[in-house]
Amino acid sequence: MRKRVTVGAVLLLLTLSVTELVHARHDARLGLQAKPVATDEERGRLLATGKKIFVERCAKCHDERGDKPLKTGPPLSQRGLSDEEIARTVSGRLKDAPDDEKRAVALYVTSFMKRK
Ligand code: HEC
Repeated sequence: MRKRVTVGAVLLLLTLSVTELVHARHDARLGLQAKPVATDEERGRLLATGKKIFVERCAKCHDERGDKPLKTGPPLSQRGLSDEEIARTVSGRLKDAPDDEKRAVALYVTSFMKRK
């Protein structure tokens, strides 16, 4: 009798921890979806904003898609910069802009960056 109770308790604990695990994974997925560049629609909107700002403020030196040769090296689009490097340099160059504009421009630059 005592043994049955113990087995029951162990089973219950196991079930609970499995449920917990499933929930944790589910939450992680949800967390991912809640990230800034989540849906295609949001991505499209950010890209459009990023492009607009880039054309206004950056294109005279970089052209619309970063293809203009630069005195100090290859065109922006051929520098093979990682997403992190792009985010960092873009934030630096757009210091006074709100975060969502920085993100938009960084995403736009990422979209034309050729990988090494
Ligand atoms: C007056 C001309 C000019 C303007 C305007 C300009 N850039 Fe640049 N940019 C340059 C030059 C020149 C370089 C290359 C510098 C170098 O070799 O380190 C460069 C390099 C970069 C790089 C690459 C840095 C690296 O580590 O290789 C990024 C990213 C960049 N620019 C983003 C921007 C963005 C975003 C804007 C608009 C907000 C902008 N630039 C506006 C001239 C300009």
